[in-house]
Amino acid sequence: MKQANAYLATIMLALVAGLGGNVPALAAATQAAPIRYDAARRVFRIDAGKVTYAFGVNADGELQTLYWGSRLMAGDPLPVAVPPAPRSSFDPVGADTPQEYAGWGGPITVMPDLKVHFADGNRDLVLRYDSYRIDDGKLQVMLHDRRAGIDVMLNYSVDAATGIIGRSARIENHASQAVTLDRAASASWNLPPATDYSLRYLTGTWASEWHVRTRPLTPGATELESRRGSTGDENNPWFAIERGAQWNESHGRVWFGALAWSGSWSIHVDQDVLNQVRVTGGYDPFDFSYRLEPGQGLDTPVFYAGYTDDGIGEASRLMHQFERDRILPAHGHPKLRPVLYNSWEATGFKVNEAEQERLAGKAAALGVERFVVDDGWFGARNSDHAGLGDWTVNREKFPHGLKPLIDKVHALGMSFGLWVEPEMVNPDSDLYRRHPDWVLNFKGRPRSLGRNQLVLNLARDDVSQYVFQVLDELLSRNDIQFLKWDYNRNWSEPGWPQQAPDRQQQVYVTYVRHLYDIIRRLRERHPGLEIESCSGGGARVDLGIMGLTDEVWPSDNTDPSDRLSIQDGFTYAYAPAVMMAWVTGSPNWVNGRSSSLDFRFLSAMQGGLGIGADILKWTPAEDAVARRYIAAYKDIRATVQLGRLYRLLSPQGHAPRSATESVAIDGRQAVLFAFLRQGQDAQAYPTLYLQGLDETARYRYRLIHGKAAAGTPAVASGAYWMHHGIDLELRNDMDAAAAVFERIGTAGNVRR
Ligand code: DGJ
Repeated sequence: MKQANAYLATIMLALVAGLGGNVPALAAATQAAPIRYDAARRVFRIDAGKVTYAFGVNADGELQTLYWGSRLMAGDPLPVAVPPAPRSSFDPVGADTPQEYAGWGGPITVMPDLKVHFADGNRDLVLRYDSYRIDDGKLQVMLHDRRAGIDVMLNYSVDAATGIIGRSARIENHASQAVTLDRAASASWNLPPATDYSLRYLTGTWASEWHVRTRPLTPGATELESRRGSTGDENNPWFAIERGAQWNESHGRVWFGALAWSGSWSIHVDQDVLNQVRVTGGYDPFDFSYRLEPGQGLDTPVFYAGYTDDGIGEASRLMHQFERDRILPAHGHPKLRPVLYNSWEATGFKVNEAEQERLAGKAAALGVERFVVDDGWFGARNSDHAGLGDWTVNREKFPHGLKPLIDKVHALGMSFGLWVEPEMVNPDSDLYRRHPDWVLNFKGRPRSLGRNQLVLNLARDDVSQYVFQVLDELLSRNDIQFLKWDYNRNWSEPGWPQQAPDRQQQVYVTYVRHLYDIIRRLRERHPGLEIESCSGGGARVDLGIMGLTDEVWPSDNTDPSDRLSIQDGFTYAYAPAVMMAWVTGSPNWVNGRSSSLDFRFLSAMQGGLGIGADILKWTPAEDAVARRYIAAYKDIRATVQLGRLYRLLSPQGHAPRSATESVAIDGRQAVLFAFLRQGQDAQAYPTLYLQGLDETARYRYRLIHGKAAAGTPAVASGAYWMHHGIDLELRNDMDAAAAVFERIGTAGNVRR
C-alpha cells in the first residue's frame, strides 16, 4: 500500500513537472489525490479547497512543517525540511524546529505535544519518522521512539471543499514497562515566522458569553484553556490568528481552528524568539495524567484548522460550511430548526399539565412547531435544591404522566421536547441517597456544590450504564422528539476513589468518552431524536458535542440587545444552523432592559427562532405581531440558518449599530438585519453594502420591518445593492429593521 502510494505520488509529480508553464488547469485534472508524498524530497503535501499544507521529514527524522497557506500550483517545488540553524550553546539544532508533533526529549525547548514519564524514571522521548499510509483520503504518519517503545500515529483528514484539515494522534505503549502521559496534545500547527500577528479568541461567563477579544502576538505564550472538566465559557476551544495590520471581515490572511472536545482542553499559542508561532491543542495538561500499561494506547481528540486569504468573515463561513457538511449529525443535510416554545422564563419550575396544555394551544396558534417542557417536571423538583437524578414524572404536576400533554402537543401539529440534566444529582434526591459514591469526589474530602448539585462520575461504567438506561426508558415510554440536554456546573474535587490513585486522572478522558457514547447510543436507538446541548447557556459548545447534537443554546441571557453581541461572537466559530435564540418577556429578567416585540423578534430571527415569553399574557395585538414574524421567519429561515453569513457592522464592545446579511446557498435570497441599540444625535444610519450577491442578477427587495430611505428601488441589480447599498431609517434607541432580497432573474443587466 505504502510503496504503491509513494510510486503513484512520484509519477504524479513527474507528470505535473513535465507539463511546463501552463500547469494549473491541467494539473488540476491530474491532481485527483488531495494528499501526496514526494518520496525523493520526503515531503507530504495536502491540497484542498484553497489551501496547501505541507510538511517534510528532516535529516534528523523529525516531521517538520513546511508550508500552510493559500493553494500553490501543483508543480511548485516545496523545500526539503531543514531545521533552524543552531544559534548558541543554549539553542542547538532541534531546540526549536517547527515539528508537527514533538515529544519532550533531546534538546527541545518549544512546547512539546507529548510529555511522558516511564516507570523506570526515564522522561526522555524523541519521536522520529517511521512510515506512512494513505487510505480512503486520509493520511496516517507513524512516528516512534524505538528505544523507549513508544509509537505515535498522526492522523490527517482533509475536507476537499473548505481545506479544513483534522489532526489527531494515537499514542501506544510498546515498551515492557508502564508509561504515564503527562501531556498529550492532538496536534501542533506551525505558522510562518512573522512579527505582525494578532490572536482572536472567545471569552465570557454565564449570561455574558462569546465576547471576541484580539491581542497582538509577541514572544511569549497565551494559554486558552478550560480546567473545568467540560468545555466552559471562560474561553471557547477556537482560535484565529491574523497577519498584518490590514485584516478585517473580508481581507487578510487568517489561520483558524477548533478542538472537537467537550472536556478540559487547552490551546497553547506560543511565539518563540525566532518569531515562529506554534498552536498546540488537545487535552488540558493541567491535572492531566494517563497511564498506559504495555500494549495500551490513547487517542486524542481531533484538532481542526483551516486558512483563508479573505479575512475573518470568510474564516467563519468556512467553519460554518465545514460544521454543516462534516460535523453535525445530519452530515451535509442539516434539518431546519423548527420554531419552538419553552416556558422556562415564564413559569420556572412551576410546570403542570393544565398550564402547559394551555401554553401549547396558544403556541400552536402562533405558528410554533415544537413545544418543550423545561426543568421541573420530575421527582421533587420544585426548585433547584432537590430532585435532580430522579427522572420519574412528578405526579402532582402531571397526574396522568406526560402522555396527555404529549398527545395534545402532537394533535396540535407540534413535536414534543423535554429538558433533562442527566449528568447531575442533587444531594436531596433518591438517587444520591442510594448512591452517594456515584459522584466525583476525593475520599474523605468535602464535596463542593454548584447550584445545589454534584456531578455524577460518568467515567464509572455503572454510572454511565445507569444514565443511558434511564434516558433510554424515558424515550421508549414517551413519544419524545427532542431533548434539551443541560449541564449546569463545573467539576470540583474531580476524584475517582474507586480507581487506583495513578489512574484516577483518567476521569478527564473517560467521562467525556462515556458521555459521547451515551448520546451516540441513544440516537441509534431513537433515530428521530434531536438534541440540544445546553450548559447553563453556552458553556458546552464545541465541535465534539456538535457531532452528536442538532443545536446549542448560546446563552441564558435572552436580552435582545445583549444577544446581538452574544450571537455575533458565537458566529466567529459556530454556524447559525445550530444557534438557538428566543423571544422572551420585556423588561428582560437579566438586566431589566425593555424592548419592543419587533426588536426582540428580529434579534432572535438571526438564529433558530424560539419563543420563551409568557404568551398566555400576550394581547391580541401582540399575538398578531408574533404570528406575522413567525410566518416571515419560516420564509427566510433556510437562508438564515444554512446560508453564507456576512457580518456587516459589528456589535462588539457595546457598539450602537450592528448589521448582518445571510445569502442562501443557492443564491436566490438574501436577508438583511440592522439594529440600533442607541440613537446618536439624530445621525443617519450608515449605508449598508450587501455582499455575496450576483452582480448581474436582479433582486426584488421587501421590508420585513422598518423603513428604507425614500427612493429605494423595489428592484435593482446585485451590483446596485452591493455598491450603491441601501439606506435604512433607524434613528431611535432600540430600533431595528430587516429586509429580504429575492433574486428574480439576470436578463438585461449589463454593466456600462
Ligand atoms: C439552565 C438553562 O440554560 C435554562 O435554559 C434552563 O433550562 C435552566 N437551566 C433550567 O434549570
